[in-house]
Amino acid sequence: MSAGGSAQDVQDELQALRREIEGHNHRYYVLDDPLVSDAEYDRLMARLLEIEQAHPELIVPESPSQRVGGAPLAAFDSVRHAVPMLSLGNAFEAEDVRAFDKRVSDTLREAGLLGPAEPVRYVAEFKFDGLAISLRYEQGRLVQAATRGDGRSGEDVTANIRTLRSVPLVLSGDSPEVLEVRGEVLINRADFERLNESQRARGEKVFVNPRNAAAGSLRQLDPRVTATRPLRFFAYGWGEIQGLHGTQGGLFEGESRRPSLPRDTHWGMLDWFQSLGLPVNSGRKMVRGAEGLLDFYAEVGARRPQLPFDIDGVVYKVDALEAQEVLGYVARAPRFAVAHKFPAQEETTQLLGIEVQVGRTGAITPVARLKPVFVGGVTVTNATLHNEDEVRRKDVRVGDTVIVRRAGDVIPEVVGPVLELRPADAAPFVMPTACPVCGSAIERPEDEAIARCTGGLFCAAQRKQTLLHAAGRKALDIEGLGEKLVDQLVDSGRIKTLADLFSLTAEELSQYDRMGAKSAQNLVQALEQARRPALGRLLYALGIRHVGETTARDVALHFGSMEAIMAANEDELLAVNDVGPVVAHSILRFFAEPHNRDVVHALAAAGVQPQAPQRQAGGLVLSGKTLVLTGTMPNWTRDEATRRILAAGGKVSGSVSKKTAYVVAGEEAGSKLTKAQELGVAVLDEDGLRKLLGVQGGGSEAR
Ligand code: IVH
Repeated sequence: MSAGGSAQDVQDELQALRREIEGHNHRYYVLDDPLVSDAEYDRLMARLLEIEQAHPELIVPESPSQRVGGAPLAAFDSVRHAVPMLSLGNAFEAEDVRAFDKRVSDTLREAGLLGPAEPVRYVAEFKFDGLAISLRYEQGRLVQAATRGDGRSGEDVTANIRTLRSVPLVLSGDSPEVLEVRGEVLINRADFERLNESQRARGEKVFVNPRNAAAGSLRQLDPRVTATRPLRFFAYGWGEIQGLHGTQGGLFEGESRRPSLPRDTHWGMLDWFQSLGLPVNSGRKMVRGAEGLLDFYAEVGARRPQLPFDIDGVVYKVDALEAQEVLGYVARAPRFAVAHKFPAQEETTQLLGIEVQVGRTGAITPVARLKPVFVGGVTVTNATLHNEDEVRRKDVRVGDTVIVRRAGDVIPEVVGPVLELRPADAAPFVMPTACPVCGSAIERPEDEAIARCTGGLFCAAQRKQTLLHAAGRKALDIEGLGEKLVDQLVDSGRIKTLADLFSLTAEELSQYDRMGAKSAQNLVQALEQARRPALGRLLYALGIRHVGETTARDVALHFGSMEAIMAANEDELLAVNDVGPVVAHSILRFFAEPHNRDVVHALAAAGVQPQAPQRQAGGLVLSGKTLVLTGTMPNWTRDEATRRILAAGGKVSGSVSKKTAYVVAGEEAGSKLTKAQELGVAVLDEDGLRKLLGVQGGGSEAR
């Protein structure tokens, strides 16, 4: 292709290319509905650049090739806003929203704009957590973009805003002489993660959250940097509007808000923006009265985690512009709108210290001790820092002001420090070399992220965690043996190993803090029941590294007794389903330790008798058989039935096929039962399953 042809031909092609490229930008960045492949887009752009290179005199600022142009700035110029950029009043509670609606309704009724029982009509929108921006279009062309600043004047970020392909350089359709569009610049969460990844990869600064990344990207003096950042824009309001359809009218503070406007509602204005090619978010909704507002708040609150970007609340605006005008302004905020905030997901607080915690396997976890802070609906006083590398990556130091985040039900985390507020003497975190609990050395194998205390069961912290693990629901299920009691039992020296637990008496237990006679009695009863655990559960309770509950069950099934497991060599262990070298070595190493063997013997001496999985001559009852469970059984939960089938060597599957041995159908069994009947698969009820397993009616599982 060449850039030749008659002058008119060249002009025509340029025009067509520019329109086509901006059309694709709009489809991609605003409508989220691209028409062409990236390759096709790149081809059009390349052709445009080719022509413009051959005819530099034909380059205009509105050309999509000019989105990134010019050299880095030395500083941003200051821009005075023709109409001030205001802020919004806040509502936090439902009561605040009802009061807002009442004030609005009262005023509008008094002004004769609202019937006696008529609810006010509002537009409810997202409150985007980004940066407010004002875009100024003159004769339909983008001439200036400014940050909010102090509301009266902000910074001129035109060169940067031009790089946002969702922002039209030229408005489509019939545009007024002057149009100031207000809205928010932000970064989607997924784009933010990708941005930080690439920042990290290039050894550049990572951002603490999408808002800061958006702010940092927009306040770049070099627009070429901004051009690489995934910034988006949504319009939600306006400033000065002049010369629409021949009308003239000022729109300065205190003056009428309507004379030169093309629509008489806020909703209509947003539709109009959209028709001009401006991006408007589709999350807006028309609602009526306080209850309509509160429903929207609840609806959006529930969807908030799924939204592609952060919002920090919702905004309610009276829809009718005439009503807005009557309501007017108070101080720096409109009386016709309010921001209803969600509980903050991020707060700043002081990092008082970094302590290390010792886990069951000796794993050392640094934990941030924080000045209590209310965030995400709870008071947070500490947060895990995961491991040494994480602390270093985030570079948080004792004394720092840190950003703490708790989103939804996610556990609280320290996002990072506020570097501007770092005390001069704040020193980087150093991992201790000795365990704070037992004094043993802390070691970190070179290829691992986790440092460990080498004290083993000599370390009281590891002992405590081992006991808590053994008492857990998937292990011996000893209800009532909680952290506080374990602390006391270990600290007083009364309990050294798992076996010691079984000599506790109710009388003795009731001496401990927070232990009433009743809870002591209950705990003794729980211990009594724990004396008959399934073998797999006891094995799991020992807390052997890499031996999870499933592996423990498989090993128990294979060997049938604790003695056999302890006596097994590597080859024998490797013969177990799903046991590989790592697990085999871990088991061997565990039982090679005399003190671990002692614990097993002591357990036996204390009367703990593991229940061997049931075998029949020729293997387990259900060896090689697949069962399907459907509907509700009268006594057994699905989990319990599954455990029993697995313990008997069977498998449980979710779908019925010709290979299914039995379908166990409870009440309200559905399509699986029908399928079984069609395929002629045997169907059992709970009693039938019990008989098959050789279990007598009633009672619950052997522990
Ligand atoms: S309207 C005259 N609508 O919230 C009112 N603001 O405290 C002008 N914001 O600085 C604001 N989403 O950055 C409006 N849908 C929305 C908004 C929104 C976010 C921000 C905006 C403004 C601040 C007001």
